[in-house]
Amino acid sequence: MSTTSVLCFLLCFISQQCMFTSAAGGSWALLQENVGIAAMHMQLLNNDRVIMFDRTDFGPSNLSLPNGNCRNDPNDRTLKVDCTAHSIEYDVLSNTFRALTVQTDVWCSSGAVMANGSLIQTGGFNDGEKRIRIFTPCNNKCDWVEVPNGLAAARWYASDQILPDGRMIIVGGRRQFNYEFYPKNTAPGLFSLPFLLETNDRGVENNLYPFVHLNVDGNLFIFANNRAILLDYVKNVVVKTYPTIPGAEARSYPSSGSLVLLPLKNIQAPNVQAEVLICGGGANGSYTQSLRKKFLPALDTCARIIITDSNPEWVIETMPLRRVMGDMILLPDGSVLIINGAASGSAGWEQGRNPVLSPVIYRPNNPIGSRFEVQNPTTIPRMYHSTAGLVRDGRVLVAGSNPHVYYKFTGVLFPTELRLEAFSPDYLNAQFDNIRPTIVAPVNQVILYYSQNQNVRFSCTGAVIQNQVEVVLVAPPFVTHSFSQNQRLLVLGNNKMTVLSNNLYNVEATMPPSRILAPSGFYLMYVIHQGIPSQGIWINLKQR
Ligand SMILES: *[C@@H]1O[C@H](CO)[C@@H](O)[C@H](O)[C@H]1NC(C)=O
Ligand SMILES: *[C@@H]1O[C@H](CO)[C@@H](O)[C@H](O)[C@H]1NC(C)=O
Ligand SMILES: *[C@@H]1O[C@H](CO)[C@@H](O)[C@H](O)[C@H]1NC(C)=O
Repeated sequence: MSTTSVLCFLLCFISQQCMFTSAAGGSWALLQENVGIAAMHMQLLNNDRVIMFDRTDFGPSNLSLPNGNCRNDPNDRTLKVDCTAHSIEYDVLSNTFRALTVQTDVWCSSGAVMANGSLIQTGGFNDGEKRIRIFTPCNNKCDWVEVPNGLAAARWYASDQILPDGRMIIVGGRRQFNYEFYPKNTAPGLFSLPFLLETNDRGVENNLYPFVHLNVDGNLFIFANNRAILLDYVKNVVVKTYPTIPGAEARSYPSSGSLVLLPLKNIQAPNVQAEVLICGGGANGSYTQSLRKKFLPALDTCARIIITDSNPEWVIETMPLRRVMGDMILLPDGSVLIINGAASGSAGWEQGRNPVLSPVIYRPNNPIGSRFEVQNPTTIPRMYHSTAGLVRDGRVLVAGSNPHVYYKFTGVLFPTELRLEAFSPDYLNAQFDNIRPTIVAPVNQVILYYSQNQNVRFSCTGAVIQNQVEVVLVAPPFVTHSFSQNQRLLVLGNNKMTVLSNNLYNVEATMPPSRILAPSGFYLMYVIHQGIPSQGIWINLKQR
């Protein structure tokens, strides 16, 4: 142990400020006591601001609209005149927020950030079900712009994915067994998807917010209920049907498990492998049982499958904690954070019990049996309608939770939650500062092109181990209802490293070779050294 670390050790003893558990298990910070709304949906934009919103028919929120503005909505089922906000813009860098205005109901909707950096939000409920809403990042002046009839069909509980050609696809939603595109096609606007009818458990559904990811072959991986397909969305043909998950329990809403596309590696190779991991969910029957006040223990299993295999099989692993309504977040170091949710019951109003306060980190490259690490707990339950998302500095914002039809602060087990927290994974501990890289060049907001060899210059106070340096790209997702739409992490190839001078290094990173592997747009780029990430910078990945 070096003299300084001995000193730190002693100092923290004396000041009693050290959490010994934080050496393994991350730490929590309360960022805001009250952001005014319950963040049901969350998206990070390339100006380090996070757009959050809930629903317009929640009744009054805790945040007034600016300048005495009110929303007059004769169609709203709860408040025809509402002078409170249901959306905010949170600025990560200054830890401040401001109210935004949505005009129609955004409840249980979906979204994606287009290549130009604007957030396109799709659908919702009631008067919002066919709306498109556009939010273009700016410095404090912008607000939502609504497009009536922007969608061909009503979309409530749909999932979106950005496509290689720059459009986005909107898949499913309640009683919608089809998909469509934005910008909207001229006829036919809708493409039927019988898989969504086949996976619809009557009465319970269990196939809402389908888990959709763009596969490395250009097809769309779609998981709903307890099984998945690979869809050629251009020809509208199912090209592969995956086996049913062993145990056959439903994993999508309201039996909400969560799913990630694991980090894509060796992306310059001819046959890139893609794998998905799905964790937790409601036990069979939990939705119906919880309506009768019987809260079944949630699932404690994860299922992992190589979706590019010719004969793919699910591999089951057991989590240290049961979880339904969890969120799964890809961290820059390639691990998966499993956070939020409950240990029993189901998604739905008042239908969850036993909050799971401890996140779990899953390390996909560890040998099976040593992949899960339980993290330090928060004190705030994050039940139905909670969210979490990575920000540029490597922390994870955690917000929301409102399992009630309206805002309810008293007389309930899980009051409407307006507090905003951040979870800092271990890699942010000061004890790793001497091996932490700091990106020196290029600068934030650089434009980079497909297949380009980019020099990434970084500093590091301690010695750098040559073969322990990686550069990764992370696409910030649209987060809602336990699914991070468009979440994608790519480990860039090459990694040729040179020492420039004392503490200054250069690593060459080759950008993704195609828009199929990485659709154009804004990504966070991190340098990772010995598993410790730098702060990210925004890059704008473009076609030459
Ligand atoms: C704001 O929230 C608190 C609970 O945190 C509640 O008691 C209060 O009535 C709310 N105030 C307004 C103006 O909505
Ligand atoms: C991005 O494109 C959309 C149209 O799809 C447009 O409304 C928006 O203003 C554009 N954003 C920027 C930043 O140019
Ligand atoms: C779920 O429960 C239903 C009714 O109790 C039963 O018919 C079905 O087989 C069960 N499914 C699984 C996967 O256990």
